[in-house]
Amino acid sequence: MSAKIRPDNLRNDHLEIRNMVMVRGTKPVTHAIELSIAPGAITALMGANGAGKTSTVLGIAGVVEPAFGEIWLDGVDLVGMDADEIRRRGVATVPEGHQVLRELTVRDNLLVAGGGLGRAELNASIERTLELFPELKERLQHAAGDLSGGQQQMVALAQALIVTPRFLVIDELSFGLAPTIVARLVPVIRRIAASGIGVLLIEQFTQLALALANHVYVMSRGRVSYDGEPGKLRDDPKILHLAYFPVSDREAVGL
Ligand SMILES: Nc1ncnc2c1ncn2[C@@H]1O[C@H](COP(=O)(O)OP(=O)(O)OP(=O)(O)O)[C@@H](O)[C@H]1O
Ligand SMILES: [Mg+2]
Repeated sequence: MSAKIRPDNLRNDHLEIRNMVMVRGTKPVTHAIELSIAPGAITALMGANGAGKTSTVLGIAGVVEPAFGEIWLDGVDLVGMDADEIRRRGVATVPEGHQVLRELTVRDNLLVAGGGLGRAELNASIERTLELFPELKERLQHAAGDLSGGQQQMVALAQALIVTPRFLVIDELSFGLAPTIVARLVPVIRRIAASGIGVLLIEQFTQLALALANHVYVMSRGRVSYDGEPGKLRDDPKILHLAYFPVSDREAVGL
């Protein structure tokens, strides 16, 4: 674990990412990423394909160790911890593509996800989580692989919620899902944030992300190109459009 000097401007109850550089293969794909994720709110992370969103998620989740930078929570730097430890400390991730254990039943998917909990705590947590997803309650004995894409995404979300995280990172909430299913998930995400969990939402549908988010970051070619409120991007599509351009190009045209 790194013994880094704690910056002064950290909020202990926030998940604070500082100077994060992710390397994929041999090339750096994010450059000095700085994100501040508030509890009880939805923070959207947007950007074009290949901008570095998933690489950032993998860094936060401890799946790929950042080459540089820190991820602070409660004054502790999570960089260098493995994915299980990061999850135990309260940062749960829903990876891209609603990944579930297809051969296992929905119930067993939830039991596996809550493996570290005691029996009573696990049962209570499953009950609480299923309140968000009544559809899953009816399908607890079904193989997860037999469910629709939307229901599988619900299982993936439920798995992440079983450990009662403080922060939930969702990579591509609506990926491959029909608009009606996405509409079904929107109030769920709002409820999760209202319960106090800080949500980092990666979402390709910009209008959906802007409608849900309290705060927005846009990434362009591995750099944060917008850091601010969603209203500005909703009101002025030109600003949104510009944020998707690489920072160097924007500077070149005087923005
Ligand atoms: N396993 C890998 N090995 C090498 N390069 C990779 C790997 N995964 C991603 N990259 C590269 O890293 C850069 C950032 O990709 P990343 O997947 O983080 O972007 P993204 O914003 O999530 O894109 P998308 O919207 O398509 O999901 C891209 O240039 C991509 O080609
Ligand atoms: Mg991605």
